[in-house]
Amino acid sequence: MDSITIIQPDDFHLHLRDEEALNSVVHDSARQFARAVIMPNLKPPVTTVELAMAYRQRILTCLPEDTDFTPLMTLYLTDRARTSDIEEIAKAEFVHAVKLYPAGATTNSEYGVTELKNVFPVLEKMQESGVPLLIHGEVTNPDVDPFDREKVFINDVLAPLLKQFSELKVVLEHITTRDAVDFVSNGPSTLAATVTPQHLLYNRGALFNNGLRPHNFCLPVLKREEHRLAIVEAATSGNEKFFLGTDSAPHAKDSKESDCGCAGIYSALNALEIYTQVFEDQGCLDKLEQFASINGARFYGISQNTKKVTLTKQTWEVPRILPFGDNEVVPLMSGETLRWKLQSQ
Ligand code: DOR
Ligand code: ZN
Repeated sequence: MDSITIIQPDDFHLHLRDEEALNSVVHDSARQFARAVIMPNLKPPVTTVELAMAYRQRILTCLPEDTDFTPLMTLYLTDRARTSDIEEIAKAEFVHAVKLYPAGATTNSEYGVTELKNVFPVLEKMQESGVPLLIHGEVTNPDVDPFDREKVFINDVLAPLLKQFSELKVVLEHITTRDAVDFVSNGPSTLAATVTPQHLLYNRGALFNNGLRPHNFCLPVLKREEHRLAIVEAATSGNEKFFLGTDSAPHAKDSKESDCGCAGIYSALNALEIYTQVFEDQGCLDKLEQFASINGARFYGISQNTKKVTLTKQTWEVPRILPFGDNEVVPLMSGETLRWKLQSQ
């Protein structure tokens, strides 16, 4: 097959940052995706509908006036969230979900939830109003090995949570393990998962490939090959519980190439082409549209996009480096060759 045309995809997990950085990266997402679920882990975090609306406006201001790109805003859950915040979401047209970061789990998560019981009334309200909870699924206990934190979270936190809130819509974000694949596959229809390009492409060997590779470091961290294979199988299976979420999370080159490098991989430039390549390698190009353009919209209860996009077989080299505010960012697969190219629309 030399070309493939699919309904324009959405990105159900995206970090756009703010200010100059936002202006540098938002155009890449708008070129590939019709809509994106925008992560709220700014500093300070986006905790209210009012802050989300202001952030949405800053995003739209960076784009041409006639842009088709639609940011789907989210709120950052803190210990101090109130049920009235959820009532506001239910009334707000542009806010679609609430993000749970266990405090200390990842970048800008220090305002996150310290104990889930602190937000039980809020979760109750979300369940009642049909607002999805998006979860960074890792425990933060330093005694738990970083490669086991997702699995332990599923067993110790997520399973009891789903028991207690059996109608709550939950997306387990950026899954990295076979455990997550199995848990989501066997879970209720209210449970789904997003899949990033890096967790389809790489196992943890990519962190240590002829030396330490900070640009392949994200959280949850890449896992063993057996886990990557399980995720590839789930994403390309046509199972409607798995859908596209890039977790594109740009950091300045300098802050990744550091003695304490930030977690996050920038993939907004080429994510769609990478997913396409992975699906082709699996002989499952016929399942790409479902994963990229249908399953997520269905789970979120939003309409399918009408526009189509075409990718053609064409090799191209991913730029080594891109501008990022007054710094630079290194994209996923920097300097490597891709076989598919999204045609400009
Ligand atoms: O690698 C990551 N980067 N994982 C996250 O959960 C957050 C993200 C970021 O914001 O940089
Ligand atoms: Zn993320």
